[in-house]
Amino acid sequence: MLSKQQLSLQTRNSFNINAICPTIYFPSSLTDLQLLTRVITTPFYILGEGSNTLFVEQQAPIIVKPNFLGISVVELAEHYQVTVGAAENWHALVSYCLERGINGLENLALIPGSVGAAPIQNIGAYGVEFADFCQQVEYFDMASASLHCLTAEQCQFAYRNSIFKTSLRNQAIITQVTLVFAKKWRANLSYNGLGHLPQTVTAKEVMQQVIHIRQKKLPDPAVIPNAGSFFKNPIVSSTEFSRIQQLHPTIPNYPQDDQQVKLAAGWLIEQAGLKGYRKKGVGVHEHQALVLVNYASENGADIVALAKYVQQQVLTKFDVLLYPEVRMITAQGEQNFVDLAVNDESK
Ligand code: EPU
Repeated sequence: MLSKQQLSLQTRNSFNINAICPTIYFPSSLTDLQLLTRVITTPFYILGEGSNTLFVEQQAPIIVKPNFLGISVVELAEHYQVTVGAAENWHALVSYCLERGINGLENLALIPGSVGAAPIQNIGAYGVEFADFCQQVEYFDMASASLHCLTAEQCQFAYRNSIFKTSLRNQAIITQVTLVFAKKWRANLSYNGLGHLPQTVTAKEVMQQVIHIRQKKLPDPAVIPNAGSFFKNPIVSSTEFSRIQQLHPTIPNYPQDDQQVKLAAGWLIEQAGLKGYRKKGVGVHEHQALVLVNYASENGADIVALAKYVQQQVLTKFDVLLYPEVRMITAQGEQNFVDLAVNDESK
């Protein structure tokens, strides 16, 4: 199996943080995966394209970077079934499908990252999420050293969540996913910015519009390093929501099925006066406050300090606690954001 020692991960995480890992492994077969269970004895982290990961220390743990490639399509009477290796690029998959008239992923265009990462946090944008097309996810379980398959239901998908972030956290190496697309396609134009498109729009046109919106609002990680939304949109009870709405009548809100209301973290951060805020080479993006950006720092700790500051300011103003969507990785593996220390000076 291909592996490297003492490797800088700077080009392998979209925050451009210069963390060094002792060893990085690139498994591409079942034999490689089984070997990993014998050679890895300390904490490790499974890395896709590093677009939802923050290395918070100069040392990273052992890294496993799955290298399973390939896309295969099966045409059924009313559906297409597409099986994709975990290491394929997500946006390349979206383009591949649309080029072949397999529609459905257009709203999820341009999301950075690998296909294998998509089920973990159930990526979503513009009214659509990964779960809508997932048939099954195949993964290698490090504990039992064997391959398993989960149906979409067994993946327990929820808003930015799945079993791969809960009971299988850091234990399941996703090898491939199978998606299913109905041949009978209808555009999903439920998101505000797509509502002006006619129902006769093509999937490719929807994709162009999604790309246009993303390029306008979200910084390109290749130009200004970032990991997309840094925080999840918080979900509060309807009672809690009424309290906040009385004080802030214009607050955007998205009622959920279960007496809960999703709030827009970007709006809360902007109202806390932090849009465009900068400190120590890092900052809050000037067009989308939910995105923290790295202008000039090599230290993940600077971004942690900024995130803690943002979290504190929003808590003070709204009494709402924001939780990061981005995963925090130290030399000891993944840590909870709440457990990360921050030195007061960086605030
Ligand atoms: N808003 C502000 N100020 C800001 C940002 C947003 O007032 O700085 C307001 C907007 O005006 C709007 C509301 O907040 O009323 C929601 O904003 P937007 O539609 O831009 O989406 P979002 O909730 O901020 C979520 C996802 C994005 C996804 C968009 C579109 C999360 C954490 N983020 O952002 O996903 O692209 O919806 O569907 O759910 C990502 O995960 O990296 C990501 C970019």
